[in-house]
Amino acid sequence: MTESQLVPGWYPIAASSGVARRKPIGVKRFGEALVLWRADDGRVVCMRDRCSHRSAALSAGKIRDGRLECPYHGLRFDASGRCVLIPANGIGAPVPEGFDLAVLNVREQHGIIWYWHGDGEPAREVPWIPGASEPGVGAAEYWYDASAPYLRIVENVLDFHHFPILHRLMIPGIGTRMDEMDAHLEDNVVVFSATMRYEKPGALRRDARIKARYALPSIALIEFGGFYVNYFLTPIDDTHTWVFARYRGTKIRGWLSKASMRFSKRIAGRRHWGMIRRRLPLGENRSENLTRYAASGILSEIIRDTPGRSIVMPWI
Ligand code: FES
Ligand SMILES: [Fe+2]
Repeated sequence: MTESQLVPGWYPIAASSGVARRKPIGVKRFGEALVLWRADDGRVVCMRDRCSHRSAALSAGKIRDGRLECPYHGLRFDASGRCVLIPANGIGAPVPEGFDLAVLNVREQHGIIWYWHGDGEPAREVPWIPGASEPGVGAAEYWYDASAPYLRIVENVLDFHHFPILHRLMIPGIGTRMDEMDAHLEDNVVVFSATMRYEKPGALRRDARIKARYALPSIALIEFGGFYVNYFLTPIDDTHTWVFARYRGTKIRGWLSKASMRFSKRIAGRRHWGMIRRRLPLGENRSENLTRYAASGILSEIIRDTPGRSIVMPWI
């Protein structure tokens, strides 16, 4: 991974609903294969997805008696990473040194598993945006692996200019001209807003106000017409990103959230990220600015130095 582009922090790596009680799952984040599983008390455990014996993928294993069992020779690991059984040596036989696994820092909050990416122990709490959607009634969520680099997607969720064009089918009825733009800071959250206008107004051509909030390193909340879309983003590797979306509508029922979500997923899969992928690589156009301002930590400095002041989105 190109680490210089990533700020240390808690990154979302899985949906709570995606980590079942009986089966481990394997994910790739930050270029590394990880296994997630639930201990008997429901706690999520995260380890590298590599057995200490002959490197088998533990995510292909099973959970037995509250322990993670390797699918190859059946070594079992408890929630602290300790190897507690080597079946070939017999039940009750002492386990020699060198078989324990490191347990990585994860937390489960807001229906999401968060992973600490940075040196040492976690230095702060799991981030959140006021008003972001919790799981539950009226909310719908989905996730997928997008074939586009992380910074490209961060850039995209803050980019209103493409909404009336690329999302013409998904969010019909917004004009293409952007007006009344504002970007400012509310605590550690960057708040963007703009009005989308039609060049020629008409009865069905109303102005649309869009607002987005973004918190480092990877939470975005987009608000439009009583509809809230949260995006949580984490690099899979240099060219792929895990995208977790949670939709909630204040004026519509949960089923409409779900229908919209399915539609959005199809659009996203087929056109959206493909479009981003086809653009120039990072560093060869304006995304250079995004690297400098939004993701390298300089934005944090702006946040520290100018609380409450208006800022200019540097990449527009
Ligand atoms: S590789 Fe896991 S038990 Fe042998
Ligand atoms: Fe989009």
